[in-house]
Amino acid sequence: MQLGETITQFITQEQRRTGGTGDFTAVLNDTLTACKAIANAVNKGALVGVLGSAEKENVQGETQKKLDVISNMMMLKSNEWGGHLAGMASEEMDDVYPIPDGYPVGKYLLVFDPLDGSSNIDVNISVGTIFSILRCPDGVTRPTAKDFLQPGTRQVCAGYALYGPATMLVMTTGQGVNGFTLDRNVGEFILTHTNMRIPESTREFAINASNGRFWEPPVKRYIDECLAGKDGPRKENFNMRWVASMVAEVHRILTRGGIFLYPKDTKDPTKEGRLRLMYEANPMSFIVEQAGGVSTTGRARILDIEPHDLHQRVPVILGSRQEVERVISYHTS
Ligand code: F6P
Ligand code: MN
Repeated sequence: MQLGETITQFITQEQRRTGGTGDFTAVLNDTLTACKAIANAVNKGALVGVLGSAEKENVQGETQKKLDVISNMMMLKSNEWGGHLAGMASEEMDDVYPIPDGYPVGKYLLVFDPLDGSSNIDVNISVGTIFSILRCPDGVTRPTAKDFLQPGTRQVCAGYALYGPATMLVMTTGQGVNGFTLDRNVGEFILTHTNMRIPESTREFAINASNGRFWEPPVKRYIDECLAGKDGPRKENFNMRWVASMVAEVHRILTRGGIFLYPKDTKDPTKEGRLRLMYEANPMSFIVEQAGGVSTTGRARILDIEPHDLHQRVPVILGSRQEVERVISYHTS
């Protein structure tokens, strides 16, 4: 039996090819360690008393789960000491997290959603961690929120860990998308999914249909046409999935195609969308585009959005090219 290619091996080889300094490889390694620790906590669940509510609210006004708080802490502690980051920002924290005194400051910024889909955690359904690595603007050693507000096109790397039946790490540095599976006995992510590509066409959609009455006309039209199946204008039957965990949803789409929609709606007019631009939409859009898919608000490419707030929300429609382009065309016609 042979050990496959580890993610560190894979990234180091990429670093040699592109003449990198090794700083990025070091950042990624620390993030991977956090993901392995989170996988361990998620996997043990009730055995180690980590399920249930933390009885606290985050900046978004959402009740935090114990595992949201634990995962956030694991990401911070695993990444703060390495000397390659200048700061971090997380969905679970109001403000930017500076590198604590006593540690060297580096040239990258790390942005993350430590436990995406955490409403699923107590019912033992897949959750994940989403991360994005940006460059810290030149000369900045104590970054503030505005230093993080870079469009998604400027991401150096984006990835997610999926804590499902197997723990997987999927990432891109702008050279395609690769997937790695955690071998728990070895403690390493091993390359198992090379150059992941999203099929161009699909007959499977994912949307929280309970929001149907709040959708805008283009999305209503698209979903109505899917539901009409063979008898409708599409003349084909569609299938539907909704895991309520964006990581799981994107992973399914990367594996077998599909379209995911969390569109703009009128449910809460104060919110532009449900998903967070910096922690969820941008990293997932980078991955989806690198795998040949499309990601949009319906009206604009997500990666082109100039962020104005760390915790900004946006509508997200992503996945197989043909279907997403159809939804875009419904928004413009
Ligand atoms: O973090 C946001 C999130 O949990 C996503 O992972 C998921 O796609 C969505 O919210 C689920 O939303 P809802 O609760 O409306 O189904
Ligand atoms: Mn999330």
